[in-house]
Formats: sequence, structure tokens, C-alpha cells
Amino acid sequence: MSKRLENKVALITGAGAGLGEATAKRFAEEGAFVVATDLNLDAVTRVVDEIAAAGGRAEARQQDVTDEAQWAQIVQNIANDHGGLHVLVNNAGIAIPGTAEDTSLEDWRKTQAVNGEGVFLGTRAAIGVMKNDGGSIINISSIEGIIGEPQTAAYNYSKGGVRIFTKSAALHCAGEGYPIRVNSVHPGFIGTAMVLDGIASMPAEVQEEIQARLAREIPMGGSMGEPLDIANGCLFLASDESRYMTGSELVIDGGYTCH
Ligand SMILES: NC(=O)c1ccc[n+]([C@@H]2O[C@H](COP(=O)([O-])OP(=O)(O)OC[C@H]3O[C@@H](n4cnc5c(N)ncnc54)[C@H](O)[C@@H]3O)[C@@H](O)[C@H]2O)c1
Repeated sequence: MSKRLENKVALITGAGAGLGEATAKRFAEEGAFVVATDLNLDAVTRVVDEIAAAGGRAEARQQDVTDEAQWAQIVQNIANDHGGLHVLVNNAGIAIPGTAEDTSLEDWRKTQAVNGEGVFLGTRAAIGVMKNDGGSIINISSIEGIIGEPQTAAYNYSKGGVRIFTKSAALHCAGEGYPIRVNSVHPGFIGTAMVLDGIASMPAEVQEEIQARLAREIPMGGSMGEPLDIANGCLFLASDESRYMTGSELVIDGGYTCH
């Protein structure tokens, strides 16, 4: 039986940990050649070594998704070295806790630079190399791009932006006749360093409130999801099985946003 990403080259940002790591490994299992990038070269090199040890094909590159010049270089290098780029997962992201009242402008701008501008720069660069042969661009938003959270003001703004920017890019590509699909993924609470460290950094009473809320309001057992749950959603959007989907929102949250 053929693998679901056979003959596809996929670039995944922030692939040194968490959801990006799980997605890189899942894509490689399904036959993709994975270009795994991250700010942290050691972390992403470890991921690529593990992919190779499991029989997959991947290479590691250092990338800061906020760097415009690096984006142009990386997608062009991939197109030259591997004959094309078929899938981009704009996954790299940061979360700095803070409310609408106490978030500093510095933290606000840092969040928008990585989560917002990084996704824009990646999408724009990928369209440039995908527009003749086609491709799938997957932007990792969040349930926090759909619903508000008092403790994550800057993050809410960035992820809401990713959600609606995805639709703009999808309409542009379809309107131009480019065979490129652009979709967003909205993970709920997944037990990665971002979420666990983020919760741990909050005041004790806020931590307690969040833990109680998750137990009460995640309909599927009151527990967080696993990185593989998101990787499998990305796999579907990367594969040709989702060929009629563009501009859509794939929510993977154990039912949290049903309330
Ligand atoms: N974990 C969750 O519950 C959850 C929920 C919703 C959305 N998300 C989103 O999923 C994505 C991945 O989250 P995660 O939980 O795996 O986070 P994580 O912190 O575990 O991993 C993020 C990775 O991104 C890298 N990174 C950070 N800034 C970067 C930059 N400027 N350039 C390149 N790489 C950079 C980090 O080095 C790290 O390896 C993020 O966009 C996040 O907002 C996560």
C-alpha cells in the first residue's frame, strides 16, 4: 500500500519540540521528505536523527521564522535541492501569558512577530514556489484564535489573525488559479512544553482555576490531547485526501469549543 505523503517534500517550522516534532515524525512515517526547521538547531537535529533511525528521510535547518531573508533562501534551496516544495506547516509559535491590562508592548510585539508575521512570511514564500505545481499550506492557529482567554491577550490576537489570514490566502490562491490549498488547524490544550510551562508560570490561584476548568470543560474525559492528535490532523491536510478543502478550520480540541 502506498504511503499517504509519498513523493512529497514538507517543510515544518518549530519542529524541534512539541507539535512540530510529532508532525515531522508522522509525515516521515507516511513517506514525505521532511525539512525540519527550528530556532534551536540542536533540538531539530535530534528530531531528524530520530526520524532517520526509524527509517524516514529528513534534514534539519536552523530558521528564525521572523527573518524575511531566511524564508526566501530556505524555500528556494528546498526547491533547488529537492525539486519542489509540496507542504508547508507554519507551526513555530510562542505564548507569553498576560492580560489586556498588564501585557507589555514588547511582549505583544514579540508574539505578533513569531505567531503572526512568521506565518505571513512563510505563506508568502511558499506560494512563490508552489504556484505552478501546487501544494498545501497548513497554518497552526489555536482554539485561542476562536475563543478568548483573559490570560493570553497577545496570543489570542495573533492566533485570531492566523485564522482569518489563512482564509485570505486561500481565496487569493483559488482566485489566481494556483493549485494551492491553505487551511488552519486549531489545537485545544495539548500537553507540550508551551502549555505545561505556560500554566506553571502563572500565579498559583490562576493555575488552580485553569486545571479545574480543563477538567470540567474538556468534554472528552477532562484531559489534554497528545501531539500525535494534531500531527494526524496535519497529515490529513497535507495529503491529497483533503483535496477539496481550502480556507477551512480544523478544530482538534476534545470538544472544548463546543460550549
Ligand atoms: N500545545 C498546545 O496546546 C497548543 C495549542 C494550540 C496551538 N498551539 C500552537 O502549536 C504550535 C506549536 O506549539 P507547541 O506546543 O509544540 O510549542 P513548543 O514550545 O513545545 O515548541 C515550539 C517550537 O517552536 C520553536 N520556535 C519558537 N520561536 C521560533 C522562531 N522564531 N523561529 C523558529 N522556531 C521557533 C521553539 O524552539 C520550539 O522548538 C504553536 O504555534 C502553538 O501556538 C499549541
